Order: sequence, then C-alpha cells, then structure tokens
Amino acid sequence: MDYLQIQGPTKLSGTVTISGAKNAALPLITLTLLAHNQLKMSNTPEVADIKTLLKLLGNLGATYTLDNHLLTIDTSTVNHTMANYDIVKTMRASILVLGPLLARFGHCEVSLPGGCAIGQRPIDLHLKAMEAMGATITIHAGYVHAVAPEGLKGAHIIFDKITVTGTANVVMAAALAHGKTVLVNCAKEPEVVQLCEILRDSGIDISGIGTSELTIIGTGGKTIDMVDFEVIPDRIEAGTYLCAGAITGSTITLDKVRADHLDAVTAKLEQMGCKIDTTDTTMTIHPATKLKHVELVTQEYPAFPTDMQAQFLALATLAEGASIIEERLFENRFMHVSELQRLGADIKLNGHTATVFGGTPLFGADVMATDLRASSALVLAAMAAEGTTNVHRIYHLDRGYENLEQKLQALGAKIERLKE
Ligand code: UD1
Repeated sequence: MDYLQIQGPTKLSGTVTISGAKNAALPLITLTLLAHNQLKMSNTPEVADIKTLLKLLGNLGATYTLDNHLLTIDTSTVNHTMANYDIVKTMRASILVLGPLLARFGHCEVSLPGGCAIGQRPIDLHLKAMEAMGATITIHAGYVHAVAPEGLKGAHIIFDKITVTGTANVVMAAALAHGKTVLVNCAKEPEVVQLCEILRDSGIDISGIGTSELTIIGTGGKTIDMVDFEVIPDRIEAGTYLCAGAITGSTITLDKVRADHLDAVTAKLEQMGCKIDTTDTTMTIHPATKLKHVELVTQEYPAFPTDMQAQFLALATLAEGASIIEERLFENRFMHVSELQRLGADIKLNGHTATVFGGTPLFGADVMATDLRASSALVLAAMAAEGTTNVHRIYHLDRGYENLEQKLQALGAKIERLKE
C-alpha cells in the first residue's frame, strides 16, 4: 500500500492547474447511458473513482477510451443492466446508473451501496422518486431491483431533503420518462447544473436550471443525440489548493478554475485574513499575516461545502483563537479530528460541532487517512507541521485528487509517495 511522506513546514509558490470535477464527471458518465451516439467528454479527471465507474459501464457493455483527459464513450452497445456489489461497494456514486438504466431499459439491478466512513448515507430518496415515476422497487439479496416495463412516467416529486446524486439520478430518469416531471427541493450544486445544461443542449426540454425546482419533459423512452462537452473545474480540489496556500503562508495561483463556484469558500478564507484575486480562469491566494479564527457551518450549495470542512479544520489549527466548525450534512464526518490531534492539534468535539483552539504548534507524526477529504486535510496539516508526517491509506486520496503529490511537488512541497 502507498503512503505519503511529507516534510514540514514548507513554503509553496507558483501555479497549479485544477483538474475536471470528479463529482461532475461521475454523473456525466452515467448520463451517457441516455445517448444513442458516441460522444466526447473533455477535461475528464483521471482519478480512481472515474476509472471505477468506467469499469462498471464497461461491464454493462459500453465501449470507451480515456486518453489525456479525453473520454470517448459509446453506450449504444450496453446490453446488461446489473451493477454488481464488487464495484458498488468501492464507490457509492455507482448508484447513479439506477436512473439512466431504469429509464432506458425498463429495469435494472443495482447493489445497495451500504454504509460508508462518513455516515449512513441512505438512498431512500432516489428510490422513492423512481417509485413516484411508476417503478416497482424491491430489495432482495442486497440488490435494488427496479422495474418499469411500460417505461417511467413523469411525476411531481418533492425531495424531503436536498440530495446531490439523488437529484442527478432523478433528472436523468425524467429525461427519458413519458411526460412532465417536476422536481422540488433539488440540489443546486454546479455539478447538477452542468448535467441539466448538457441535457438542455442535447435537445431536452428542461427549465429551472440552477434553481431548486426543475421541470423536465421526457422523451418517452427515446434515447438522446447527446452533445460533446467539457467537465467543469473541480471546485473542491481548487478549495483544497487555496487552503494549501493559506496553511503554508504562501502566495499561489490556481489555473483553470471557476471562482464563482467557490464564493462560500473564498468568503471564509477572507474572514481568516487571506486575500484572493480572481480572473475568469484563475484565482491567486495571498496568505494572512496572522490567520484569524473562523465560524462555519456546512450546508448545501451555495453555502459552505461539507467537502471542504476537513481542510478548514486543518487550517483552523493554525489560526488565532477558537474556531467553531459545525457539520450539518453527514453525521460522522469528523474522523480526521483524532488524526489531527496526533499532529498536536487542540480540538474539542461535541456532537456535530468541532471547536478548534488554534495556535498550538503541529509536529509530524504517522497518521491515517479515513476518507477522501479527510486525507487532504492531513496533507495540508503535514505541510504546516514541524518534521516528518507519514499519511497512510492514501487510496482515499487517489479516489478524487489527480496527481496530488506531483502538483504539490511542482509548487515546492517536500512530498513523496512511498510503499509501506
Ligand atoms: C454528494 C457528493 C459528496 C458530497 C455530498 C454533499 C458526489 C459523487 N458526491 O454526495 O462529495 O459530500 O454530495 O454535498 O457528488 N440523504 C438521504 N437519503 C437519500 C440521499 C441522501 O437521507 O436518499 C442524505 C444524506 O445521508 C446526507 C444528505 O442527504 O445527509 C446529503 O446527501 P447527498 O447530497 O445525497 O450526498 P451524495 O449525493 O451522496
């Protein structure tokens, strides 16, 4: 197993290019299941989660090549409808095949994703919506069996809770359903917006894009002539590099980024004393002279993202005073706290709220990555800590950060990938 060895403290400088968004690319890959043509998706991040999902589509019968971030994919050859446990257990986002497969073939069998490190993460809202669209759902032997022999029917669906992959799944199902679907209380994340825009550009009648209410007129089962597209920049990868600048007290520039997708993150960095300059495609962070404490609550977009909570927790360990960080989306997303404590951080956890007493010096240690974003928080803290930190179990990082150590090395970090 690989691990990362990081020498701190370190200063960074230069420019880092941000990859395409993993969380946009995942639903966009499953969106191609609705197309009858071969299409090209550029700026595809070459991270483990994307390769896993492509393997799943390959098992279903799709053909594809991924070369230098250009994915060429043809799903017209798909002739299986089962997403098996071996793949789904490694990546929950595999559930995104449910809507497209059901809408296109009238049935599918998808393994239940089960628990994950950051909490229970049910899929009840995905299933309820498919039922509202006329599907019969049964759970048997760990699989969701979904059947709609006459195709899905448009419906009026109110999500009890805002769900990102749930919204994407139901939008894709609705695009091939019979008649009109109205979705209320939808996710407004840029990744969901891009999915809707591609459907619109491919001729689907969809309105309300970017709002919490979407109206979609389905094709009645007909597959779509889909346009080629470019995956939006990864706002979470970008936010992580902004934190890298802030935590190492360095000025760095991010290229190929959408600053407007990062407003909530930028606002918190500015409250902490950093300064951020933006252009259409770049962001430059100038560090604070003295980092100030912060108060933040994770919520759905456009509020502060849960996927940036761990990185800000790491950053708060260097800030003056007590920072208060509340996690509202996932019940168990503070596992990085005990690992940060191993580096010397002073953090008190009370239910969904962490209080970080900043300013205690961090020292290198052996730490273990527990989930994707928690892993990047450990890398950030390690760059600020005195001495050597070994971050173990970095397969979590490889799921979602493209070439993390190469990008950090190019900025001047002393970081190396080694074998256990
Ligand atoms: C997506 C992101 C993930 C991010 C999360 C929240 C992808 C591939 N992943 O995950 O990185 O952290 O959004 O921004 O895009 N819920 C239910 N029932 C459901 C579905 C969700 O109760 O059927 C709950 C979840 O347990 C959670 C909340 O709703 O508490 C939000 O989850 P959701 O938006 O669905 O997260 P994901 O789409 O899985």
